[in-house]
Amino acid sequence: MSAAAVIVVNHPLVQHKLTLMRERDRSIKSFRELVNEVGMLLCYEVTRDLPLELVEIETPLMPMQAPMIAGKKLTFAPILRAGVGFLDGMLALVPSARVSHIGLYRDPDTLEAVEYFFKAPHDLSDRTAILMDPMLATGNSAVAGATLLKKRGARDIRFVCLLAAPEGIAHFQKEHPDVPLWTAAIDERLNDHGYILPGLGDAGDRMFGTK
Ligand code: URA
Repeated sequence: MSAAAVIVVNHPLVQHKLTLMRERDRSIKSFRELVNEVGMLLCYEVTRDLPLELVEIETPLMPMQAPMIAGKKLTFAPILRAGVGFLDGMLALVPSARVSHIGLYRDPDTLEAVEYFFKAPHDLSDRTAILMDPMLATGNSAVAGATLLKKRGARDIRFVCLLAAPEGIAHFQKEHPDVPLWTAAIDERLNDHGYILPGLGDAGDRMFGTK
């Protein structure tokens, strides 16, 4: 099976905001606001192909057939904790989406993803699942997150991140060749600790002020 697409969202607003986020001295408040804003912009891109249907409405002047999203149900699936940064921006655009929280932490020695929490709708087979984590580094968390969603029945999964390392993309595509991914940029490589270079540091720490 050939791998699904990698879509680099090169919209000027996204690129500008990403550059601001990379700056070392940006405040926690500003960083968190930017993640939220970029989450909204990425949501716009990842939902671009949702099917529409024509419905009958009345404008103040006359009846018309107008397009609405055709009953497609969504779940937003943030990987805790940094993925939560995208959530409010995405929910602002799709307020009726369900949320599937995925708790994974990176073992600092092995860099493996360890599951500690998973709370999602009972059956995801009829929902588009938007899996989100700002940093696709080794790919371990994203791979584990997509696996959990598939075990819940998800068949249409889309992965959204802010920055991806080539190593993470390769790993993710090997394990989940059916899942397309959206990113604002593909950076150079990982360092020995699994951080993306040039990157933006630890997204969770920068968002929540924990360093
Ligand atoms: N997680 C982060 O927050 N930053 C990285 O560079 C890699 C993983």
